Amino acid sequence: NNMTKAKVDAIAASILSGRIRNIMILSGAGVSTASGIPDFRSVGGMYDTLKPNLLTATEEQRQAMRIDPIHVVSLDLFRETQLPYLELRRPFILGLGGNQWRPTLMHFLSDVLHKKGLLTRVYTQNIDGLDFKTSVPPKKIIPVHGSLMVIKCESCKTEMDSAKFRELTRTHIKDIYNSGDDLAPKKSSPIPCPSCGKPYMKPDTVLYGSSLPREFFMHWELDAQSSDLLIIAGTSLTVGPANRLPGLIRNSVPRLVLNNEEVGMGLGLNYAPNSTDTLLKGSCDSGCIALLQALGWLENMAVYESE
Ligand code: OAD
Repeated sequence: NNMTKAKVDAIAASILSGRIRNIMILSGAGVSTASGIPDFRSVGGMYDTLKPNLLTATEEQRQAMRIDPIHVVSLDLFRETQLPYLELRRPFILGLGGNQWRPTLMHFLSDVLHKKGLLTRVYTQNIDGLDFKTSVPPKKIIPVHGSLMVIKCESCKTEMDSAKFRELTRTHIKDIYNSGDDLAPKKSSPIPCPSCGKPYMKPDTVLYGSSLPREFFMHWELDAQSSDLLIIAGTSLTVGPANRLPGLIRNSVPRLVLNNEEVGMGLGLNYAPNSTDTLLKGSCDSGCIALLQALGWLENMAVYESE
């Protein structure tokens, strides 16, 4: 609507006039759905489509997943049994379709902002590595919940080459139905750590109950204090401590939310016409286009189309 457009135009004008120089991005699963990766909490998302029956044989563990699906990516469960996590992440581990998961417009927006010298840092809750497929330097990307690209022992943190881990995963899988189909349910058996011997080798993603990467805590407060625009994209803001980031921004600083639904009201975001918060409700792609259009930078995106 007109009010929202006026607010986006005002943000764009501040960027163009140099009043906004430091832009911080907080993103979530919604920025990658356009690439074909489901989010967590939408209908059709990972928690909605979880199949406890295929992930574990014990009724107790199945029940825990039904009560709260985040149990499937919890440290407690992983210590008990590694199969559910490894099976859930198998398509990624095997790199199926590797290049079919391409960065989206939102990823390229951070790329453009970086090239213009305007990007403070991207805080991505995503483990898919798509942010790293742009030209934004890795030190400007904080993978808040870890990354599938790095393989580590959950216990002693010894690293393993990801190609080697992929190969081991391939040879450790038991094809329950002998279908030969890579995506059909399998029994992914655990891979022992070459250093400590525990069956805990896994992609270095943050399980519920374990701590976030040190780089997150090193930067988040200072980055928030020094930013003069926060873009929040494709996240339900349900998971902490990442969802506390919007609350660390200085009061006068605009927060621009690109999301399919209203989020973060309980966290102090409010989208009243006179507030500094703006919600561009809709897909991240369309939100990006609206912002780039207001900036007159839409043609910058043409270079990405052929990639
Ligand atoms: P969620 O699935 O909780 O939220 C995704 C948000 O993006 C929802 O508000 C969707 O409506 C919205 N959305 C989906 N597709 C979109 C699109 N194309 N355009 C615009 N909006 C879209 O995902 P996250 O907030 O990232 O953590 O979840 C946070 C954390 O919960 C994850 O990092 C993961 C999960 O449990 C761990 O596993 C530790």
